[in-house]
Amino acid sequence: MANRPIAIFDSGAGGLTVLRRAWALYPGEHLIYGADSCHFPYGSRSLDDVRTLFLRFLDFFKTQDVKAVIIACNTATAAALETAQARCDVPVIGVVYPGAEKAVKTTLNGRIGVLSTYATYESGIYRRAIRHYDQKAEVIQWPCPALVTMAELGQTETRQAQLAVRECLDRVFPHDVDTVVLGCTHFPHMERIFYEEVGDRAVIVDPGYETAKHLQEVLGPLSAQPGGSLKFYTTGIARDFNRVSSSLWPNAVIDANSLVWTTRGYEIRP
Ligand code: DGL
Repeated sequence: MANRPIAIFDSGAGGLTVLRRAWALYPGEHLIYGADSCHFPYGSRSLDDVRTLFLRFLDFFKTQDVKAVIIACNTATAAALETAQARCDVPVIGVVYPGAEKAVKTTLNGRIGVLSTYATYESGIYRRAIRHYDQKAEVIQWPCPALVTMAELGQTETRQAQLAVRECLDRVFPHDVDTVVLGCTHFPHMERIFYEEVGDRAVIVDPGYETAKHLQEVLGPLSAQPGGSLKFYTTGIARDFNRVSSSLWPNAVIDANSLVWTTRGYEIRP
């Protein structure tokens, strides 16, 4: 069991923010990253559509004999967490609940802002998850699809990114929030800008980081000694994925395989 890989999934490069955290915490683990880049963005799709797309990826992960699956995508968590858990005999962990729990522990005034994709916003999952930990919490949500697109293109340090982050924060700060949840895994790619724009007005919660820490609670001790590995699969164009991902995570060697769905299942192309 110990040597079996852990799968980490996102619609694109957003989940790298979770992978990076997991790799820093458990460098002895074998981590498989799956990006459904050819169906990106998930945030403007229906939840039914996202569920169907993610479950196909889940079947692929099962063939890789994984010991756990992290849905490093808030939108896919909203769409498919329960279904995926029911279909898998290994733990399937979403990013929303660990993030919600941390937000509730962090807030002092019980007013929490959540920035996310449209689909996550409309699903209401963050309100449910936060209220699961604190029934009285006020949840102020705002969808920020433009940030998702910019992050996926690697445009995380531009003036436009800064203005777009400011615009999203301007939607939640008038409601007196003291905690801001980055409810889309693409957003921590813009962490520096978020910290600059939020300043001391609120505490930022990164659900991906909380999830990476939480993994050890679910799976038991994980290897912190170097010796693990990283593997990447994308349903998009591998060259494009490698280029953007390497700019978002400059210290990593990212050489993705192409994953192609076929009538019999899938094919892997280098
Ligand atoms: N990174 C994903 C999330 O956390 C989805 C972004 C998208 O594909 O719209 O929701």
